[in-house]
Amino acid sequence: MDVFIAGFGVVGQGITEVIRDKQELFIKHFGEKVRIVGAFDTKSLALDPSGLDPDELLKRKDSLGKVGKDEVSDDIVKLLQDTEYDLLLEVTPTNIKDGGAGYMHIHTALSAGRHVATSNKGPLALKFRELTELAERNRVHLRYEASVGGAMPVINLSRELLMGEEIASMRGILNGTCNFILHRMKEERFSFQFALREAQELGYAETDPSYDIDGIDSACKLAILANAIFDRDVTYADVSRTGIRGISEEAVALAAEHKQVIRLIGEVSKEKLEVAPRLVPAGHPLSIGGTLNIAQLLTDLAGDVTVVGRGAGRMETASALLSDILAILKNGETRRDAKR
Ligand code: HSE
Repeated sequence: MDVFIAGFGVVGQGITEVIRDKQELFIKHFGEKVRIVGAFDTKSLALDPSGLDPDELLKRKDSLGKVGKDEVSDDIVKLLQDTEYDLLLEVTPTNIKDGGAGYMHIHTALSAGRHVATSNKGPLALKFRELTELAERNRVHLRYEASVGGAMPVINLSRELLMGEEIASMRGILNGTCNFILHRMKEERFSFQFALREAQELGYAETDPSYDIDGIDSACKLAILANAIFDRDVTYADVSRTGIRGISEEAVALAAEHKQVIRLIGEVSKEKLEVAPRLVPAGHPLSIGGTLNIAQLLTDLAGDVTVVGRGAGRMETASALLSDILAILKNGETRRDAKR
């Protein structure tokens, strides 16, 4: 299978390493290699229909700050239409105003009959139905495990392993930064601002941390889950949203006196779609600390199913993308097969 990587930041580099290191797995299970035939970042383009060397791409990015030797074309649409590849890995940064370049890349690839796997929340939190219908019409896969909760496999778990269950609701923690801040405020008695600065220094927060603390990031992820698991047709703006900006040290301490913690909880069901700070009893699964993400699914046969995992990070997000690459190899014909 030939892949094209759109975006060569942390996630693009992570998935390149994983593709380099998992060739034996691809050959063992599917009898074929996964080759990177194209990659671009904001500054440059690398293209080779016979396969690019992952180490060369990573080395160039590391030393020169760009993935390719060539200038990236102004006409990305044409590039994504005319190049031969089976799967677009869309890993450019999220834009939640209109989906941005990520939306255009995904739309173009699906329209051109290519599979897509993405970590990009923007296009899915805004135009989920349009993009999934486009994929269906073109009989290709659009997969997005990496867009919610990094290495916490909640989407594929719900849609595939729990396919036979009626899932009544999902409650969870979908933003590591907020969880880290609330955890540090309680354990270390840090102020909100101090804990936020720590989260920024450790690289957990978004470039604009208001996306985290005002619950926008959680709302995007919740909207994707609502669409993907609960068959709803919502955007992140439909999520009733309260962030953690207003949580004082006194509130955290008062909750602790009553053996409770405050957590930013997302909840979705057929009727509900809400992100808000909630009191959670200490010791309850949703009281987890640190930057972990968690999702609790309430199902009709299996009861409560809880999944916990690291919500962000280079290898964590790459792990989710890898699961989608494997699912496409397993379920779908690659474009080359279809053309035979
Ligand atoms: N800033 C996000 C978080 C990163 O803290 O969870 C992952 O989307």
